[in-house]
Amino acid sequence: MIYVTRLLTDTAMAQVRALGEVRAGGDDPPARAELLERAEGARAVVCTLTERIDAEFLDAAGPRLEVVANVAVGYDNIDVPAATERGVRVTNTPGVLDGATADLTMALILAASRRVLDGDRLLRSRTPWVWGPRMLLGLDLSAGATLGIVGYGRIGRAVARRARAFDLKILATPSSAPPGDEPVEIVDLDTLLERSDVVSLHCPLTPGTRHLIDERALARMKPTSVLVNTARGGIVDERALVTALRTGVIAAAGLDVFEGEPSVNPALLELGNVVITPHIGSAGTVTRERMCGLAVANVADVLSGAAPRTPVN
Ligand code: DGY
Repeated sequence: MIYVTRLLTDTAMAQVRALGEVRAGGDDPPARAELLERAEGARAVVCTLTERIDAEFLDAAGPRLEVVANVAVGYDNIDVPAATERGVRVTNTPGVLDGATADLTMALILAASRRVLDGDRLLRSRTPWVWGPRMLLGLDLSAGATLGIVGYGRIGRAVARRARAFDLKILATPSSAPPGDEPVEIVDLDTLLERSDVVSLHCPLTPGTRHLIDERALARMKPTSVLVNTARGGIVDERALVTALRTGVIAAAGLDVFEGEPSVNPALLELGNVVITPHIGSAGTVTRERMCGLAVANVADVLSGAAPRTPVN
C-alpha cells in the first residue's frame, strides 16, 4: 500500500495508482492522529512539507515502510536520521522548482523594492492622488543596486541569473558548489548583509541556519535595504524582523514563508512595508506536475528495487 498524505496533481495521482493500492488523503493536511493511523502498513509514503515525519510516524507506519517521498526540495519536516536508522529511504524534489521559486523571488524583490502594494492600496482606498516627484519612491534596482544571495545553490543561482538582467550586482555566501565563471562575488555573511541593498535567502532550514537572520544580522543591513525570504520561515527571527521593519532598521521585506506556518504573525499583517504571499514559491502548474511526478518516480524506483533518483539519505 502507498499512502499519499494529500492529493497530488491528477497526472501524478494516476501514476501512483498504477503502482499499486493507494490510500489517499484530501486537499488539506491530515490531522496528526489521522496521519499516524493511515500510514500503518504502508510500503511507501508520499508526503508534503506540512506533514511531520518523525520517529513516531515511522513507527506507526511499521516495518514494511521502504520510502518516504517528500513533494518538496526542503526536507526539514523529516527526521532523516530516524528514517535511516529504520532503513527507510527519504527522497525530495530538487531541480524541478528552481525557476518557479526564482520567479516568485524576483516578484517579491520587485514588489517590495518598488512599493507595488503601497501603490495598489493607495488606488483602492480611493485616495485622491496625482503624479509627483516625491511620490512613492522606492529602491532603484537598476541604478547600481547589489543583491546578496544567502545560499548559492540551485535556486540562489536561478535568482542570480534573473537579477543580472536587472543589472543587479551579485554577492553570495560560500556554497558547497563553487561558482563557475559567472559574475558573482563570494563573501561572508556579515559582509553580504552590510553591502547588499536586497538580501534574498535560499539556504535550507537546519539547526545551523535557524534564526540566521536575527536582530544582530538585521542591524548589519542598510536602513534602505529589503529582505526577501522564499526559503523557510525559521531562517528569520520574525519578532526581530517585525521590530526592524517598524523602527526603520531595514526598509521593507518580501516574505513567502513564515516561522509558524500556516499562521502568520499578526504584527506582519499590520505593516505596510511587507509584501506577503502564502508559500507559493513553487506554485506553477508545470512545476507542481514535475514535483509530484518526481516524488512518484522515486517511489516507483524504490518499490522496484532500484535506487531512488533524488535520494536524501
Ligand atoms: C520546497 O520544495 O521546499 C518548497 O518550499 C515547496 O514549494
